[in-house]
Amino acid sequence: MPFKIAYKLELMVHCGRRQRSTIRATRVASPECPLLSRCFALPLRGMAPSASRVMRALPASFVLIGMGLSVPALAADKVELSVDVSRSGAKIDRNIFGQFAEHLGHGVYDGVWVGPDSNIPNTRGIRNDVVAALKALKVPNVRWPGGCFADEYHWRKGIGPQRAVTLNPNWGGVIEPNTFGTHEFMDFLNQIDADAYISVNVGSGTPHEAAEWLEYMTAAQATTLAKERAANGHPAPYKVLYLGIGNESWDCGGNMTPDYYLSQMKTYSRFVRNFNPAQQDKQQMLKIAVGPGGDGPRWTEWTETVMKAYQHHTWSWDINGLSMHNYTVVKWPPSYASVGFEETEYSQILKSTMEMDGLIRKHSAIMDMYDPDKKVALVVDEWGGWYAPLPGSNPGFLVQQNSIRDAILAALNLNIFARHADRVRMANIAQMINVLQAMIMTDKEKMVLTPTYYVFKMYMPFQDATFVPVAFDAGTYTHGNISLPRLDAIAARDTAGKLWLEITNLDPTQAVEIEANLAGITAKSAAGETLTAPKVDSVNTFDAPNTVVPKPVSAKVQSGKLALKLEPKSVTVVSVEP
Ligand code: AHR
Repeated sequence: MPFKIAYKLELMVHCGRRQRSTIRATRVASPECPLLSRCFALPLRGMAPSASRVMRALPASFVLIGMGLSVPALAADKVELSVDVSRSGAKIDRNIFGQFAEHLGHGVYDGVWVGPDSNIPNTRGIRNDVVAALKALKVPNVRWPGGCFADEYHWRKGIGPQRAVTLNPNWGGVIEPNTFGTHEFMDFLNQIDADAYISVNVGSGTPHEAAEWLEYMTAAQATTLAKERAANGHPAPYKVLYLGIGNESWDCGGNMTPDYYLSQMKTYSRFVRNFNPAQQDKQQMLKIAVGPGGDGPRWTEWTETVMKAYQHHTWSWDINGLSMHNYTVVKWPPSYASVGFEETEYSQILKSTMEMDGLIRKHSAIMDMYDPDKKVALVVDEWGGWYAPLPGSNPGFLVQQNSIRDAILAALNLNIFARHADRVRMANIAQMINVLQAMIMTDKEKMVLTPTYYVFKMYMPFQDATFVPVAFDAGTYTHGNISLPRLDAIAARDTAGKLWLEITNLDPTQAVEIEANLAGITAKSAAGETLTAPKVDSVNTFDAPNTVVPKPVSAKVQSGKLALKLEPKSVTVVSVEP
C-alpha cells in the first residue's frame, strides 16, 4: 500500500480517538467531599460516535504508525516492521522518564524517608534499598512536594532543627511531620543522582514566600537566607533545574480562571529567581506553567490563554514548559480494580490510555500557533493509571497494585511521548513509590519492584536517544466492542550508534512473530529482554516478587532482517549491534 493512502488512514483513526476522548469524565471541586477535599462528577457531555465504526471501515484493519514506508501484509500471526536508521527524528529527552513524589500516603514517609533512627537500613534517614533501586533506573528528575500538597506547602516548616507539625488536608487529613523537607529532598536527589523539579505554592502562598525559598536554596552570596541554609548543614547552593509555578491551579491549586492564573504566573516567573552561579549561563532553571488537564473547551481555553500571552511575552517574564495532567481512569471516581480484573477491564484501560496521543496532538496544535519554534515544552508531569484504592487501605492514600496491564500502559504512553519528542520533552509518572502507578512498593522493611519499574528499566537506552521512525501494520486486537491496535513500536539510535527497538504486544492471548527489515545499518546481532506475565492482572507482591520480571528474549539477525517472537501481553526491548 502506498504511504500516502496509509497515512490518511492513520489520521482517520486518530480523529476517531479524539471524538471518543470527549467521553472523558470531568472533575469538579466540591465542598462536600470529606476524603480528598474534592469530589468527581460524571460527564455531562454527550456520547461521541464510536471510533470502532471508523476502525471497521478500514480495509484489513490497516493502521500504519510510522512515516514514509509501505509495508506488505503477511500472515495474521506474522508482522513485518521496517526501520530505516538513516531517517531520524527528534531527541527523546531523558526527562520524559521523570518521577513524581508527593507528600501523599506512604509516597514520601515510609517510601523514601524512614528517619535516621529507623531499623530499616538508611543513609541520613533515606532508605538504602529504595535509593539503590532508583539509582539503577537513572531517574532524570523528581517533581516535589506535590501535587495538590504543593499549593498548601510552606517550606519554612520543613527546615531547621525544629519542624512544625502540620496537617495534610488533601490526602487523608493525616499529620504532616515536615521531617522530610528541602534538605532531605535534596539529599535524596543527590543519592539517586536526579535533578530537582520544585513545585512552588501559588494557591495559598505568595510570590514573596516562593522567592525566598529559591533564594534559600540557590544563593551563593552570604545573604541571611543563604547563611541559614549553611547553618542547617548545606553551605553550597543547591541546583534547582525545574520550577513548577503552581499545580492544577484550575482545581485543587486554587480554582483559578485562566486569566487570573496568568497574571499570578507572570508575577512568579518574574520574581522567583534562581541565584545559583552555576545556573546563570548553562543549566538555567526552566519554568513550567500550569497547563491543561483534559481535552474539553475549558482546557483548550487554558492552553490558549497561556500560550497567547507567551507569544507576546516581554523580558520581564518567561516560561519554558506548559504542564499537562492526564490520568488513565476511564471514569471518576476511580473505580477500576488494580488487581483481580479480567480481559474486559484490561482492554478498556488500554483503550483509555491511548487517548493521551489525541490530547497531546490537540494541545500541541494550539502551542504550535503561538510557539511554532517549539521553545515551550509540553510537560506531562502527571500521568499513569488511577484505580480504586486497595481494599483495607486508607482511601486518601491512593494505594493500588501494579500489574502487567500497567507495564503495557506505561510502554504505550512512553511511546506516545517519544513520537511527540519535539514538543513533549518532560513527563512525570504519578507517583514514584506506594502511590498510584508506582515504581516501588514498600511495607516497613520490605520492598518490591513493580512491572512499571521494569518497563522504565528496559527503556533506559531510550534516554536521550534519537527517534527513528518505524513502519508496521499494527493489526487489530479486539475484545467485545473494544478494538485496539494489536502492536505498538518505537525505535531509536543511541549515541554509540546502536539501534534500539521496543515492541508492545497488546493482545493478551496471541503471540506475534516479528520480522524487522533494517535499513541504514549493517546488523550483526541482536539481544533483548521481554516482560510478560501469566495473567492480565499478574502483579509482583512482597511474597512473590518475581512474577512479572524481564526475561531474555531470543532475537535472530539474518540477511539484514531481525526475527523475534513476542509473547502475548508483552513489552520487549531489543538492541541491534552494528
Ligand atoms: O497525583 C495525585 C493528585 O492528582 C495530585 O496531587 C494532583 O495534582 C492530581 O489531581
